[in-house]
Amino acid sequence: MEAKIKALREQMEEALGRVQSKAELDAFWQAYLSKKGSVTGLMKELGNVPKEDRPAVGKLINEFKNYAEQRYQEVRQKMEEKDLELRNQSEQVDITMPAKKRPAGTLHPITITKNEMIDVFSGMGFEVFEGPEIEDDDHNFSRLNVPKNHPARDMQDTFYLSEDIVLRTHTSPGQIRVMDAKKPPIKVLVPGRVFRSDSDATHSPMFYQMEGLVVDKHITLCDLQGMLDEFVKKIFGDSVKTRLRPSYFPFTEPSVEVDVSCFACGGEGCSLCKGTGWIEVLGGGIVHHKVLENCGVDPNVYSGLAFGIGIERIAMLKYGINNIGLFYENDLRFLKQFQN
Ligand code: PHE
Repeated sequence: MEAKIKALREQMEEALGRVQSKAELDAFWQAYLSKKGSVTGLMKELGNVPKEDRPAVGKLINEFKNYAEQRYQEVRQKMEEKDLELRNQSEQVDITMPAKKRPAGTLHPITITKNEMIDVFSGMGFEVFEGPEIEDDDHNFSRLNVPKNHPARDMQDTFYLSEDIVLRTHTSPGQIRVMDAKKPPIKVLVPGRVFRSDSDATHSPMFYQMEGLVVDKHITLCDLQGMLDEFVKKIFGDSVKTRLRPSYFPFTEPSVEVDVSCFACGGEGCSLCKGTGWIEVLGGGIVHHKVLENCGVDPNVYSGLAFGIGIERIAMLKYGINNIGLFYENDLRFLKQFQN
């Protein structure tokens, strides 16, 4: 029996040495240590041993069985440790690796320009007011001194929603709404979308304007020029000058068109200013006394100035954009250039 145990032990060690995987280890357990296994089977042979030797042999078998069990556990534990190590290695996270970038969106160039304009004017004490994009004829035209059948209505190609309702053609109805809502002194900006049936490289059927309105005692054209001087310097640079040219709007008298000296060529004449040295940027003037009256403001006590700036125009000049359509196409290659 002792010889048998010894042989089995050698055989078992050899088998255990060959074990590579969990499955093989399980097979080993089945072959040697399960109920039907050969180590367990030794006990069954105890009956063949002479009675007086049985206690000693039984002890030997038991020892061997414990030993075999212990060896099996050792190998199993080593295998599990190795598995864990492999898993730790494969699941390792390199904390020094740069993180995946999440691309952040940017503000739209119109929004950037609008914010910048509001910033400049709020430094002069302007508040922001917004009116509706769908307007009635009264606010968009009549109370701005553009009565029905007035030829000045042809200055803007209007989208009519019904006979009396339009998509606002300018932000000037904001002037009426502000004067209806509050008494002078007034100093407001009205930014927003406006609509005209017009479309080419520099015109879009929808675009943005920013209206300015100041109503107080003793407001003159000098105040308008002073404010706009300051505005263009902040937007286009300190060396840029303004020039007022006489113009016509039904709601201002006198009316002016404001040019800035060309910041590309410094006034010598180039393709941007079409050789003139000046670039037109906005319209404005002294609020017509009829408009003040239409809003219950006494023109003998108060006077006002107003201006309307095309936001796209400012952005196009500022960033050197030659097609207004680019603003509305949402092409990321275009939009990504305006990181602020
Ligand atoms: N509303 C005019 C336009 O859209 C601009 C303007 C505003 C002119 C205020 C004078 C005063 O062309």
